[in-house]
Amino acid sequence: MIQQIHILQEEIQGYTISNKEELETYRMRFISRKSVINELFDAFKSLSPEEKKKTGVLLNTLKNKAEERLKYLNTLLEEKNEQESFLGDMTLPSTPNTIGAIHPLSALRKKIVGIFERIGYNQADGPEIETDWYNFSALNFPPHHPAREMQDTFFIDKKNDVLLRTHTSSVQVRLMEKKAPPIRSIMPGRVFRNETITARSHCIFHQVEGIYIDQNVSFADLKQTLYFFAKEMFHTDILIRFRPSFFPFTEPSAEIDISCLLCHGKGCNICKQSGWIEIAGAGMIHPNVLKASHIDHQKYTGFAFGMGIERMALIKYRIKDIRLFTQNDIRFLKQFASLVS
Ligand code: PHE
Repeated sequence: MIQQIHILQEEIQGYTISNKEELETYRMRFISRKSVINELFDAFKSLSPEEKKKTGVLLNTLKNKAEERLKYLNTLLEEKNEQESFLGDMTLPSTPNTIGAIHPLSALRKKIVGIFERIGYNQADGPEIETDWYNFSALNFPPHHPAREMQDTFFIDKKNDVLLRTHTSSVQVRLMEKKAPPIRSIMPGRVFRNETITARSHCIFHQVEGIYIDQNVSFADLKQTLYFFAKEMFHTDILIRFRPSFFPFTEPSAEIDISCLLCHGKGCNICKQSGWIEIAGAGMIHPNVLKASHIDHQKYTGFAFGMGIERMALIKYRIKDIRLFTQNDIRFLKQFASLVS
């Protein structure tokens, strides 16, 4: 029996398992009621007292060792399971590492800027925090005139007339002050208006404005420029129309419509049955604006135009809610990565 105890002891010490079933097999063999160790205990009963003395301790030690090994194998199995549930199935392909995409508004701004750069416009920039002069007064908004209420303004310091610019026309003034004509520039940028946020309007949005000042710049030049832009932008043979409008800084002023991209002028929900969609404001720069920036208004004429980038995106990609641009939903944002380059 002693020899048998030694053999079993060795077997127990070297016993390894890799799953629950194998642990059960171990338990059946060494721990259960019908285990080999219990069989030895049965046989032990019929030994002579002499032999009992020799084997008793060994047999008890064997039983303890078997139980210890069971505990050990149990923890081994638990650790293994934990590791596996943490790592998952190592043979599966890994989850893709999602990287961001260029924001549709940035992409569209680049596209707009690119179109004008091809016809000789350079880019100009200016501050978002402005004074009344650059945002209103130099642009021929008379003091206390209702025209100022066309654009609800966020004031930073009302006493000193410091405000968040309501349009990028302020950059036009800064440019005209610094540079002598010819000037041919576009100004993309962020603008602010105290408006309720809805599906169609936001208090922060983006514009691209442009000016062209030189000798003999005419309304026909403005028309051709915007027609070129609209065709490049929307890639189809669209129609363009000028509707009379009012801006304090341009005279005459116009609002620019393109024929509806969806119904091609027949009338649908997108164009509110009119067949036309508004894309920009424009006009010939008012002589008072040239005068305010010390440009000789007898010698030079110029045109200006301005458009909203969000609005352009809504039209081009038929997006129904302007708020989507600022919600950072990657599912929305990623759709445009390949559309605009
Ligand atoms: N500044 C005008 C606006 O924000 C747009 C505009 C620019 C109109 C230039 C005419 C000429 O609404």
